[in-house]
Amino acid sequence: MDGRILFLPGDGIGPEVLREARRVLEAIGENFGHRFEVVEALIGDDALERFGDPLPDETRALAIGVDAVLVGAVGLAVRSVDGVRADASRGLLDLRKLLGNYANIRPVSVPTALVDRSPLRPDRVRGVDLVVVRELLGGIYFGRPRGIEDGVAYDTEVYTEEEIRRISVSAFELARGRRKKVTSIDKANVLESSIFWRRIAEEVSRDYPDVEFSSMLVDNCAMQLIHNPRQFDVLLTSNMFGDILSDEAAVLVGSLGTLPSASVGGDVGLYEPVHGAAPDIAGRGIANPLGAILSVAMLLDLTFALPEEAGAVRDAVNRVLENGYGTADIHAGGRRAPVSTARMGELIAGALRPPGTAAMAGAAGTEGGARGGAC
Ligand code: IPM
Ligand code: MG
Repeated sequence: MDGRILFLPGDGIGPEVLREARRVLEAIGENFGHRFEVVEALIGDDALERFGDPLPDETRALAIGVDAVLVGAVGLAVRSVDGVRADASRGLLDLRKLLGNYANIRPVSVPTALVDRSPLRPDRVRGVDLVVVRELLGGIYFGRPRGIEDGVAYDTEVYTEEEIRRISVSAFELARGRRKKVTSIDKANVLESSIFWRRIAEEVSRDYPDVEFSSMLVDNCAMQLIHNPRQFDVLLTSNMFGDILSDEAAVLVGSLGTLPSASVGGDVGLYEPVHGAAPDIAGRGIANPLGAILSVAMLLDLTFALPEEAGAVRDAVNRVLENGYGTADIHAGGRRAPVSTARMGELIAGALRPPGTAAMAGAAGTEGGARGGAC
């Protein structure tokens, strides 16, 4: 298999975590005999600084011509360009829009090795395995009108029937391959847009009689995610509610740094760790690369339809964690000293098992497999 992937390291810890993602991708290429060509371009603060645009034309042109895009992190810089406000995070929103990726898939599962590191009691988080399916191109993020005028600020939550229908279909299709349960999140006791959301989600649910469906108010969901997170399989959300709830769900795992995401629906898949640029720890070699590395697994799965390779990455991550390794954010009293971003990447690349050995996963003790037993 030949593939071309655009890496957009971006800001803060983005370049550090993408370096490790690349290491793992290259190791997969070597072990499984694929040729992945990686091209790099600018997004975010640097792009804003150099081109006055957080998503410059060159990056746009590359993005629409590759098989997949992997983003590190996009910063928070705000500049005035020709008197117009320009901010780095707009680069990411523009990229999502450009690629037409309306379905943002954010899986949250707690690896056995991390159960004790969650701030919640182990009995609450053991076995948590949910996916947030977040609508990504609509809602208050893009709704018009918006503005600040004469002492009044306003944004608009807008959803069309078509937008709600297609993201609902994504959620139900995903649920069919999982535990067959969709919980649609809204604020239908207050918002018109949510009343409409609930109605369309219910309509779509009738096409999926094999999938259990319910709606839940967002404030209740925020509570239930902490109280009883195992009840959830697929959470179907608007853009804004999904943004907030996915950060909350990340706490179950103990660190936002571990979570991957995929944005699909257009021709080119977009993958990014859920975490942000984390400028406070940038450049120190302590960032957690798991979100980026597990995003590579999603990319292998969803863009290239390579489930064995994706499984090899996830399996390697789990075995490295089970061997007690972790960056400082997930280490919390673990049996080894915390390792650096680069060391974590090396360990995972080293733990990748060669093709055809997936069934052996977990059976062969702690030797690292094809690349020399790094853990
Ligand atoms: C995310 C981020 C972005 C979002 C920001 C950086 C625009 O928080 O991907 O969750 O709100 O979508
Ligand atoms: Mg967010």
